[in-house]
Amino acid sequence: MGRSNVGKSSLINALVRQKVARTSAAPGKTRLANFYRVRRGSGPEMYLVDLPGYGYARGGDAPAREFNRLAEAYFTRADRGPGIGDRGSERTGSPRSLIPDPRSPEKRIGVLLLIDARHPGLESDLDAWAWLASQPCPRGVVGTKVDKLTRAERARHTRELESLFDGPVVLASAQTGEGLDELWKLIATLPSQTAA
Ligand code: GTP
Ligand code: MG
Repeated sequence: MGRSNVGKSSLINALVRQKVARTSAAPGKTRLANFYRVRRGSGPEMYLVDLPGYGYARGGDAPAREFNRLAEAYFTRADRGPGIGDRGSERTGSPRSLIPDPRSPEKRIGVLLLIDARHPGLESDLDAWAWLASQPCPRGVVGTKVDKLTRAERARHTRELESLFDGPVVLASAQTGEGLDELWKLIATLPSQTAA
């Protein structure tokens, strides 16, 4: 998850080396939660989930409300029953869920918050991080578009991001492929970490 235009969809494309997700220079491109089932090498099957961005104001409050609805439904499903993408009925007691359940060991989720590495510390990102901290799932931070930073900025912004989001931050570029291996490693280990 992350602000509109931060590069969420581009990063998914870069990770899977295919253009599966639609991207755009204009913010507000992704409007729905999109699930991509992936398997890397002989690793476990998993879903990469691309969410709409937050912080995009055109069209009034509607996109922001939609984001909140999706995010809440997604991340708080464990407490509230089936969420987005669920098939089946609660009444039968056997919803066939596409949504990983953080309480189920085989279906753990982890959330990556994507931050534009050029702009650490934007209020909406800090708000998103604070909100994530209240959710029952492990989380990590990725700094995007690192190709746009100078060497000096990289060092400075990394320090800044790590102090703001208290923990290691992976810097990556969908454009140059920098940081993608490190990001795959984070994705592999994230779900098994316990949420703080
Ligand atoms: P929404 O779906 O609107 O929330 O946006 P998003 O976060 O999915 O962003 P998207 O992937 O559509 O990318 C937004 C813009 O940033 C596009 O013009 C991309 O080409 C550009 N972009 C994404 N990642 C990178 C990157 O690593 N480096 C550079 N230089 N540009 C990038
Ligand atoms: Mg998108």
